[in-house]
Amino acid sequence: MTLNLSPSEIGKFVSAYRALDFIESDMKLGLGTGSTAAWLVKLLAHEVNENGLQITACATSSETTKLAERLGIKISKLDELGQLDLAIDGADEFDRNLNLIKGGGAALLQEKIVETAADKLIIITDASKQVEDLGSFDLPVEVVKFGWKTTKRLIENILEDEDVDCRVVNRRGNSSPIITDEGHYILDLKLIRIGNPHSLSNALLNIAGVVETGLFLGMTNSIIMGDSTGKASVKSGINSDWVHSLNNIQELSEFIKKINIL
Ligand code: 5RP
Repeated sequence: MTLNLSPSEIGKFVSAYRALDFIESDMKLGLGTGSTAAWLVKLLAHEVNENGLQITACATSSETTKLAERLGIKISKLDELGQLDLAIDGADEFDRNLNLIKGGGAALLQEKIVETAADKLIIITDASKQVEDLGSFDLPVEVVKFGWKTTKRLIENILEDEDVDCRVVNRRGNSSPIITDEGHYILDLKLIRIGNPHSLSNALLNIAGVVETGLFLGMTNSIIMGDSTGKASVKSGINSDWVHSLNNIQELSEFIKKINIL
């Protein structure tokens, strides 16, 4: 069976597939944003529509809301659900301490609000997101529109003190930054290595015009990492070992085909 998907995309599917094992009936879920989270939404829609899974859910972006609703998952407002049982989302990078860079889909603010309101956060990724130190992926920072160029300058100033080699850019080289669901701008920080993520996060959040950063520190309970052979590896906590399980890739391929046409 030939699948028209890259190894990384299959890995993303495998991680989302394994995440289903953590979802129980009647849970209140937070659904992440991005291509890995989209696999989860498709799998969840299959469970809801074909296997009668009962869940309530809120989303971390307009993009995820649209996809979920199109597939028949009712999306509630976070405030209607209150405290969530579980949030599941992708990430742009994760390190050995389960700290993350997120926001590649510009949804970091809603993601952080939803994910800090969940009892548990599970991150689903392919193997390419694992790094020794955070920082190769551009760090997204959400800033208010008012005075954004001043905020950008202040960010550049504090980065000098943070001893990181970087510059601040507008995403995709646009002349103005991209606009988030909340009507703010995203600035991307081109860093090479973040030596002290907590210090950088605090320094950035101290700037009045900064709304949030893509550093998700100390929030993740478990990482599920998938690969193109069907292997899913789960790490639950900083000091835990990876626990591996192997899916039959032929069977999975059939299922991916079915799910992908949703
Ligand atoms: C969106 C995010 C995504 O979770 C992150 O960008 C990973 O995306 P993908 O699953 O497409 O690789 O933080 O704001």
